[in-house]
Amino acid sequence: MRYRDVHELSVSNPRFFWRQKMDLIDWMKEPSKVLEQDENGFFRWFPGGVLNTCHLALDHHVDHGRGRQVALYYDSAAAHTRRRYTYRELRDEVALFAGVLSGLGVEKGDRVVIYMPMVPEAVISMLACARLGAVHSVVFGGFAPHELAVRVDDAKPKVLITASCGIEFERVIEYKPLVDAALEETKHPPQHVIVFPRPQATAEMKDGRDLDWHELMHSAEPADCVPVASTDPLYILYTSGTTGKPKGVVRDNGGHAVALKYSMKAVYNTNPGEVFWAASDVGWVVGHSYIVYGPLLHGCTTVLFEGKPVRTPDAGAFWRVIQDYGVSAFFTAPTAFRAIKKEDPDAHLRRQYDISTLRTLYLAGERLDPPTYEWLSQVLDVPIVDHWWQTESGWPMVANPMGLEPHKVKTGSATFPVPGYQVDVLDDEGRPVKRGETGNIVVKLPLPPGCLPTLWNNDDGFRESYLKTYQGYYHTADGGYIDEDGYVFIMGRTDDVINVAGHRLSTGEMEELIGSHAAVAECAVVGIDDQLKGQLPVGLVVLKDGVAQEPAHVEAELVQLIRAEIGAVAAFKKAIVVGRLPKTRSGKILRKTIRRLAVEEQIVTPPTIDDPAIIAEIRTALRQHRVGQYANLPLDTDDADGI
Ligand code: COA
Ligand code: AMP
Repeated sequence: MRYRDVHELSVSNPRFFWRQKMDLIDWMKEPSKVLEQDENGFFRWFPGGVLNTCHLALDHHVDHGRGRQVALYYDSAAAHTRRRYTYRELRDEVALFAGVLSGLGVEKGDRVVIYMPMVPEAVISMLACARLGAVHSVVFGGFAPHELAVRVDDAKPKVLITASCGIEFERVIEYKPLVDAALEETKHPPQHVIVFPRPQATAEMKDGRDLDWHELMHSAEPADCVPVASTDPLYILYTSGTTGKPKGVVRDNGGHAVALKYSMKAVYNTNPGEVFWAASDVGWVVGHSYIVYGPLLHGCTTVLFEGKPVRTPDAGAFWRVIQDYGVSAFFTAPTAFRAIKKEDPDAHLRRQYDISTLRTLYLAGERLDPPTYEWLSQVLDVPIVDHWWQTESGWPMVANPMGLEPHKVKTGSATFPVPGYQVDVLDDEGRPVKRGETGNIVVKLPLPPGCLPTLWNNDDGFRESYLKTYQGYYHTADGGYIDEDGYVFIMGRTDDVINVAGHRLSTGEMEELIGSHAAVAECAVVGIDDQLKGQLPVGLVVLKDGVAQEPAHVEAELVQLIRAEIGAVAAFKKAIVVGRLPKTRSGKILRKTIRRLAVEEQIVTPPTIDDPAIIAEIRTALRQHRVGQYANLPLDTDDADGI
């Protein structure tokens, strides 16, 4: 069947379509239905089905002749270590660690928070939770203690798993003090903290609460897979919304396993036994879906790379890993290639490696900007696939479906809706727009399997954020258009979420924090286009009358505040004190105008602006602080004063 027919069937008769795909996985008990609506009216896939995701990812393959195939290559450019696990070895390690967790009282439905760097023990922890039917919540290592504390309080875990440290370039970042600080702040601390010791740092242990990974493994008994319902949660993954409270995206077991297995062939065109590498982090959805679950459910070999695209040790790191492990499908964020392009513009390093195993490059996390696409097209002779999805969907929503029918690429477009997703564009009143016109990107309900059924302990929040705006549709909060040929162009968020180096962050949360500073009267944080990271947050701050502190001091404190409360990953480096903010006559801050002023020479003054004179004031402030288009102005020009 051609792509168009497959897609048409999937949206016109989703029950029939997914009934067929249901057989892609080995159920312990077949679902009694394909789809139903629960008491909230939320859609639930494959009710009545019983399975275990860890069984499907590991035991199933061991039982079917893949025991000796490598399941996971660990390559740490940061710690100069390599390790490999066959499916049998990984299954045995996971079973043993599941025994550890079970010995600590972790049972089906209990939550476990995982705050770890990119080490195999992070993957082992996730799969061990899945084995017990416990719900993991992985928190990205670049988040500060406060963010960890918020997630702990929401999930109320029995156990937290961490490592003694992470490694960022040459910097050792001790995790244990961060965990200790977070647990000081929480109202619901876990009973136990398991610490995986790494040679680069020694963790200080708290008696009675903290336990050593190796000691626990030494005395543990392996645990078996616990059968769970298709609709039981597999994990929670928090993601940024428009406020300071992150949203706990829930993933179920059954729909997730079916969807990921389907995507591995339909979207990524990989076959069991091949090597699939997603250079992301287990703390993000890409890491969950395509470092851990997708490749393993499909019987592929996955690669866990602890390092960066550059400076670990150079801009050839990605090419080296592709060569060393025979990677056939590679997935990363465009920002990583922008970093490589900056350091090795002519891709000299690429020629030092044999990357002939590579069949396709997949990019997501942010829009694949045309210059990066053009550069990649010159450097590589394989298809370059931009594809669009979100933490909420858990797998691609729009892509060039390489395993169904590859299509001609249109630069700047993520190509076509993936089977299962009916993507539409609506105006602000909910009316469909014409082809080629920009509007709000929505997906018609029901969302396919694998997408979030709700938010953790927050059904109202789920309704509010995603279902309320457009009746019968999932609101993606991305804007864009569909052209005459049906190609989907995703142009950016329509809310206060920004994308910094492929990391999703909330400017609303940053504003809340800045607003809590004693000297601040009001502020606006906007995402300014950046050549390397896609966007960078910049704060404009108005001080309270009578504040005696020097603006430079306030600025430094605000930068430190965001770093301490959200984390270094926010990359918040500029808080600019201004006399006032641009507003409409009704008092709404004109954030879009600030963004434009930073990157455009000329802008049309918004007709609703309260006082047009402020345009020049803000432009001067942005220029003085070298924001956006002014980033490369020499520092010794007159207006550099006050920096
Ligand atoms: N633990 C602790 N700190 C972390 C961290 C982690 N896991 N990840 C990032 N940080 C810190 C960094 O050290 C840096 O701190 P600094 O301000 O003190 O230098 C800060 O957070 C910002 O990190 P990052 O966004 O990674 O920027 P960078 O300048 O260190 O590297 C890139 C730039 C482009 C190389 C890097 O962002 C990258 O590899 N991006 C790929 C993104 C990606 O994989 N996204 C996932 C979606 S597919
Ligand atoms: P996250 O939930 O962290 O995966 O971030 C999801 C957001 O990243 C989306 O809502 C988009 O704004 C953006 N995004 C991800 N992939 C793409 C893409 N291929 N094109 C455009 N935007 C993307």
